[in-house]
Amino acid sequence: MSVARLTVTAVEDKRAFLALMLASWGSHSMMIDLTVYDCAELDLLGIAGKDGVFMAYASWTMRGDVALLCALHSVVPGQGAAIQLLEAVKAAARARGAVRLKAMLTNDNMPGLGFYQKCGFRFSRLHIEAIDNFRSVVPTIVRTGYMDIPIHDAIELEIAL
Ligand SMILES: CC(C)(COP(=O)(O)OP(=O)(O)OC[C@H]1O[C@@H](n2cnc3c(N)ncnc32)[C@H](O)[C@@H]1OP(=O)(O)O)[C@@H](O)C(=O)NCCC(=O)NCCS
Repeated sequence: MSVARLTVTAVEDKRAFLALMLASWGSHSMMIDLTVYDCAELDLLGIAGKDGVFMAYASWTMRGDVALLCALHSVVPGQGAAIQLLEAVKAAARARGAVRLKAMLTNDNMPGLGFYQKCGFRFSRLHIEAIDNFRSVVPTIVRTGYMDIPIHDAIELEIAL
């Protein structure tokens, strides 16, 4: 797919993104490597369309020399926004000294698994029942996802930077 270069910006007003997280995930907290991160407190990059409305967001942070992609979400999929945001996160993470970028997906997320592997990510860990355990702390976390598949487990993927 050949897409126009889009402009990545730092998003200061996170309200629309946090509402999107609440609607799609049931919380704006994410668990990566068994640690909980609140996306309200993390760096947020976005790509806005011509109308100024954001078409994709990436929420990320650092832990030691590992960058963590806590959420990558396209409001308007298939326009190249996610891959361009991913490249922007990789560049920003490298600039902060990261040597790896890690992402977490739930077991249902077949599109996400396809996307990240196409982008060069490899599986690194499987956390059986991690989302069930997280849901016992945050009961609003959604119970089913892609194709109504029940959500139980977390899959970590990573890529060298
Ligand atoms: C996964 C997701 C971020 C992809 O967003 P997108 O904006 O559609 O992706 P892009 O348009 O940037 O696609 C970039 C490339 O990835 C490919 N791609 C997109 N979805 C894919 C999939 N399911 N499987 C394989 N490749 C995929 C595209 O074909 C494109 O490749 P190309 O340039 O060679 O054609 C989007 O589906 C999404 O927001 N899902 C819901 C949130 C989510 O699950 N995020 C991941 C966990 S945080």
